[in-house]
Amino acid sequence: MRTVHKVKELRTILQSYRAQGKRIGLVPTMGNLHDGHLSLVTKALDAADVVVTSIFVNPMQFGANEDLDSYPRTLRADQDKLDASGNTLVFAPPVSEIYPEGLVQQTQVVVPGVSEGHCGAGRPGHFEGVATVVTMLFNMVQPDIAVFGEKDFQQLAVIRKLVRDLMLPVEVIGAPTVRDEDGLALSSRNGYLSEEDRQRAPGLQRVLQDTAGKLANADDDAIPGLEQDAMDELKRLGFRPEYVNIVSSLSLKPPRSGERDLTILAAAFLGTTRLIDNLSIQRA
Ligand code: PAJ
Repeated sequence: MRTVHKVKELRTILQSYRAQGKRIGLVPTMGNLHDGHLSLVTKALDAADVVVTSIFVNPMQFGANEDLDSYPRTLRADQDKLDASGNTLVFAPPVSEIYPEGLVQQTQVVVPGVSEGHCGAGRPGHFEGVATVVTMLFNMVQPDIAVFGEKDFQQLAVIRKLVRDLMLPVEVIGAPTVRDEDGLALSSRNGYLSEEDRQRAPGLQRVLQDTAGKLANADDDAIPGLEQDAMDELKRLGFRPEYVNIVSSLSLKPPRSGERDLTILAAAFLGTTRLIDNLSIQRA
């Protein structure tokens, strides 16, 4: 397995793979890899001959009061995990390689509609940062396929939309959320949780499951009440919920009358740690 830090070197290596007719896959990450990330790499290796895993803590997607400085940077350990998973190429550029002139005059990719609401409401500019860096990664790697986790449900929708709108020649593949035994979705941010909050954290997925159970046979009018009940239950469990929204799985907007493919999206804080999770269901 090789690690490259420069775009030029990345392009040279990938050119030779492409000349050999190899299919190229991309798994964008911010590092501090866990089994969720590694499941994306495995999925990418099923669909491509060569997989590039990018490791880049993207300053453009962090808000002013967010955890950019404290975000865990663990390149050596990440390389070891990727080595063991049969990965072929790591792209770990420094910030100066991606944003040589800083962020102020950086061209941005804005994805209207799906970027709005949910995490887009609480994290202004976040999805512009994600969409911009992912578009840049697509242009640097020119992958045939790219794999993203359903854990970040809105992010996946944003990326699907930008690929369609900008006619980017890449197939986007979604991968299911990998969880700890107690149901907590794996996340690099779980490492911030105190022991006590780590015990509470699986409550988020449990509340989503309870809500899904009630939603399965619910009328449209019952939806706002279910969202409120879920918020109240999260508070009772010691969370500071940011939102619980029941949406159309396709548009991420409030469901149309009788719409069946629904997703419950939620974000909630434990202490200063922000957790997100989601659950998709088919209504009867
Ligand atoms: P990061 O949070 O490192 O996540 C990288 C990828 O791993 C994303 O596609 C995310 O959805 C997926 N992922 C995270 N936790 C997962 C889990 N428990 N199960 C399955 N997949 C999981 O998301 C980002 O980085 C960034 O926004 C990025 C797309 C790299 C752009 O900077």
